[in-house]
Amino acid sequence: MRPKRVLIGVTAGIAAYKTPILVRLFKKAGFDVRCVITPESKEFVSPLVLSVLSGSPVYSTLINEDKTWNNHVELAEWADFFLIAPLTANTLAKMASGICDNLLLSVYFSMKSQTIVAPAMDLDMYRHPTVLRNLDMIQNDGVFVIPAEFGLLASGLTGQGRMAEPETIFKELNQLITDKSTSVFTGKSVLITAGPTYEAIDPVRFIGNHSTGKMGFALAEVFLKKGANVKLITGPTNLELVDNNLVLISINSAEEMFQEVKKHWSNQDIGIFSAAVADYRPKVVSTDKIKKNSNELLLELIKNPDILHWAGQMKKDSQFLVGFALETTDEITHATQKLERKNLDCIILNSLQDSGAGFATDTNKVTILDKQKNKSELSLKSKYEIAQEIVLYLEELIAQ
Ligand code: CTP
Repeated sequence: MRPKRVLIGVTAGIAAYKTPILVRLFKKAGFDVRCVITPESKEFVSPLVLSVLSGSPVYSTLINEDKTWNNHVELAEWADFFLIAPLTANTLAKMASGICDNLLLSVYFSMKSQTIVAPAMDLDMYRHPTVLRNLDMIQNDGVFVIPAEFGLLASGLTGQGRMAEPETIFKELNQLITDKSTSVFTGKSVLITAGPTYEAIDPVRFIGNHSTGKMGFALAEVFLKKGANVKLITGPTNLELVDNNLVLISINSAEEMFQEVKKHWSNQDIGIFSAAVADYRPKVVSTDKIKKNSNELLLELIKNPDILHWAGQMKKDSQFLVGFALETTDEITHATQKLERKNLDCIILNSLQDSGAGFATDTNKVTILDKQKNKSELSLKSKYEIAQEIVLYLEELIAQ
């Protein structure tokens, strides 16, 4: 396997004096390193030092003095990771707004791989609303931000703004690489259903449930960290998740969720059905708001399609399907029956009998059962930690 390639971008901040240490750390760990710098950053770090340490020419302009051209697309394609350290407020603003007036920015806008940035600026700049807004914007565009640290700043003031230490940046990037390159989920398509469904009674009322979608969103986040492409089909929630490799599809009713699952399931590798789908919906949806004219109101309900059951029937040998079960009695027996009835590879059993588990809590306690009749009980943990453990379990199961 060829060494990982990291392209290190340098912008004109005083913290650039630490970038040569970063270059050395990556070189020592066996990475291929190249550097692209803004012309102004030469005031803060010598291109010669970067070139000697990286063992490669340093690129700073689109056109060289001898009228040769530095191909930004080629550089972007070369890199497995683009790390900009330090990142100034100026370059950050340009990244957020699409200004592309130097080689480093041209490389950024041509990157297909992950960009990671380590901002560095004075404390008042770092907490300025515009800077915070720009950091938010690039994060939403899929950039991984390693936050600035607290400490003494070049201005003599003390506060948050120091570029993270080279060792911290090196560790963070290595973690990203481990997550993305060693997982069986890298490049795989994962469909996740999440949240409640709302079944309309009339234009203002619905039948719903207490699901918040937290479990499904946490699972989506973990799969994304593993390098998967995720389609998250979610009922109404207050949650947000943005990632380059995420397609978020919002629906209201079970029928709408079913339509979306039908559209996408056939070309997915993995299906994780964590939505709390309403089993029934009103047979007739009143077009006008129902008036309280009588003492009794009878609602006739009809069964919703069982989406997971449908996905189980359609499942190809290459697909892997996971369902959830919420049981109150004979939990293991019922969950095992559900696993078989719905043709699942694995089922995650939630027990409402455990305090801290179930709907609308931040924690959960689950038992994982699989087709091979293995059973694994997880202790009470945050939903994110549970998601990590579930994904780890599936990773091992699929690798077998
Ligand atoms: N599910 C679904 N579509 C439905 C109902 C459930 O996709 N209409 C999925 C859920 O997302 C979950 C699993 O099926 O993964 C949970 O099934 P559940 O509703 O608990 O069990 P049922 O099979 O409907 O049986 P029962 O309600 O009798 O327990």
